[in-house]
Amino acid sequence: MNNNFPIGIFDSGVGGLSVWRAIRQQLPNEALIYFADQGHVPYGARPLAEIRHFSEQITRFLLARQAKLIVVACNTASAAALAHLRQTFSQIAFVGMEPAVKPAAEQTASGVVGVLATPATFQGALYASVVERFASGVTVLQDTCPGLVTQIERGNLAGDETRQILEKALTPMLSRGADTVVLGCTHYPFVIPLIREIGGEALRVIDPAPAVARQIQRVLASRRLEAEASSPPQFTFYTSGSPAAFDAFLSLLLGETGLAQPAVWQKNSDGQETIATI
Ligand code: DGL
Repeated sequence: MNNNFPIGIFDSGVGGLSVWRAIRQQLPNEALIYFADQGHVPYGARPLAEIRHFSEQITRFLLARQAKLIVVACNTASAAALAHLRQTFSQIAFVGMEPAVKPAAEQTASGVVGVLATPATFQGALYASVVERFASGVTVLQDTCPGLVTQIERGNLAGDETRQILEKALTPMLSRGADTVVLGCTHYPFVIPLIREIGGEALRVIDPAPAVARQIQRVLASRRLEAEASSPPQFTFYTSGSPAAFDAFLSLLLGETGLAQPAVWQKNSDGQETIATI
C-alpha cells in the first residue's frame, strides 16, 4: 500500500460531497476518488440487502482503483452495509456515517432533539444503537423527509418543494421544543441555509462531516497511511448517472471544476451486477 494512493469515497449521489468537502479541508494532501451511484439514487427507501449489494460492488470498484481507505459517505449505506463491508474486506479500513445523536444529546438545552434521515437509516441497527447508548433522558424526534434527497439531486436547494418538505419535518419538532437538529443524511448539509430560515438562527444544526474527516485523519495516522505533501493531490469523480449533471452540481455547490467519468452497472455472465467504466 502506497501513502499517495487515494481515499475512496462513495454515496448514492451528490450527498457525500458534503463529506468530500470536509476531507479536503482537513486533509489537503490526500488524493480523493469519489463514486456517486446516481443510477440508483435515492437509496433511502430500498431494501437493506439491495443497498448492501450496491455498496459491496462500489467498494470493489474503488479498491480496483487503489483506494487505501474507504469512506462510506452515506448514512443509508452505512446503516445497511458497513458491518458487512468490514467483514468482507477485512484488509482495508472503512469510515462510515452514523447519525450524530451523541453530540446532540450532549448539547441540547431543551432535552428535545430532531433527527432527519432516510427510512433505511432509521431501520438499521446502527441508529437504534446510538439512540440507546447516547440519548437516555432526551426526547428524540424523527422525520424521513420524503423526497428531499431527490430535490437536492436536482439542485433544488431553496425552491418551494424543498421548503415544504423541510417545513413539514421541522415544524412539529420545533413546536415540541427541539433546539437541536441532527443531519442524518449527507445530502442535507446542502440545505442548511433553508433549515436555518425555517428554524431560526438559534436552532443548533449538527453536520457530522467535520468530525468524520477528523476520524479519517486518525485512522490514516494509526495505519501510517497519510499522504506525503510531495505533489498536488488528484481528484477523480465517477457517476453511474449523468456526468454533466454531476459536474454542474460540483461547481454549484463546491465551486470546484471536475470532469466526472461515467460508470455503468452491467450484468456479468453469472447475472451479477458489477460496475464498468466506458
Ligand atoms: N446521502 C445519503 C445518506 O446519507 C443518501 C440518501 C438516499 O440516497 O436516499 O443517507
